[in-house]
Amino acid sequence: MNNVLDKLNWRYATKMFDTSKKVSKEDLNTLLDAARLTASSYGLQPYHFYVIEDEDTRSKLRKASYDQAQITDASYLLVLANKPTFDESLVDDYIDNIIETRGVSRENLDGYSQMMKGALMGLPDAQKNSWTANQTYIALGNLMTIAAEMEIDTCPMEGFDNAQYNEILGLNDKNLNAAVVLAIGYRSEEDQTQHYPKVRYSKEEIITHI
Ligand SMILES: Cc1cc2nc3c(=O)[nH]c(=O)nc-3n(C[C@H](O)[C@H](O)[C@H](O)COP(=O)(O)O)c2cc1C
Repeated sequence: MNNVLDKLNWRYATKMFDTSKKVSKEDLNTLLDAARLTASSYGLQPYHFYVIEDEDTRSKLRKASYDQAQITDASYLLVLANKPTFDESLVDDYIDNIIETRGVSRENLDGYSQMMKGALMGLPDAQKNSWTANQTYIALGNLMTIAAEMEIDTCPMEGFDNAQYNEILGLNDKNLNAAVVLAIGYRSEEDQTQHYPKVRYSKEEIITHI
């Protein structure tokens, strides 16, 4: 199976994971690197990724996820958490990182820094939250596609109570919010969903060439 489209057709939102098969640590690390390499607006990366393996934590999270089995049965559960609010330090920390990584001077980045602050600091809190949450979905898409490329199964999940997740994972004190979840593992042969044809609009319906 080499073709990109074959891999994308192979991928499906897995409902039943095979609990006897575990994704290796090496493959997990490749996926985490893929998440880290994801593009973000201005490059600001206003998020943090949690890898949840602890069984007790996962059974608590399952209760906060409408009892969805993927939460406990996948090899790993990734919680993609956004920064619900931010101040100038979001930009300042990033500028420090550029200086350290690329060896450029602070003065050189002054204009870029002011531009980012001008665009972002005045946003109302709700918009800051939705803007940073949006960034986590780019990582989510990347993770699903790269996992499919590696023939690793995933289930993206929004079906959970994020207030309860924030409480269970202690995110409130860290200015983080559970935005979206990704279960990672190997499909169970018994999961009938894998055989369902994909339900998608035709190209004519969802694509316009101008
Ligand atoms: C952001 C997002 C949240 C989702 N939440 C859930 C979920 O909580 N539980 C679930 O079983 N599937 C969830 N899904 C899976 C979708 O239902 C599924 O991707 C869609 O029906 C298309 O099917 P396919 O991914 O198998 O091609 C979610 C998908 C996305 C992208």
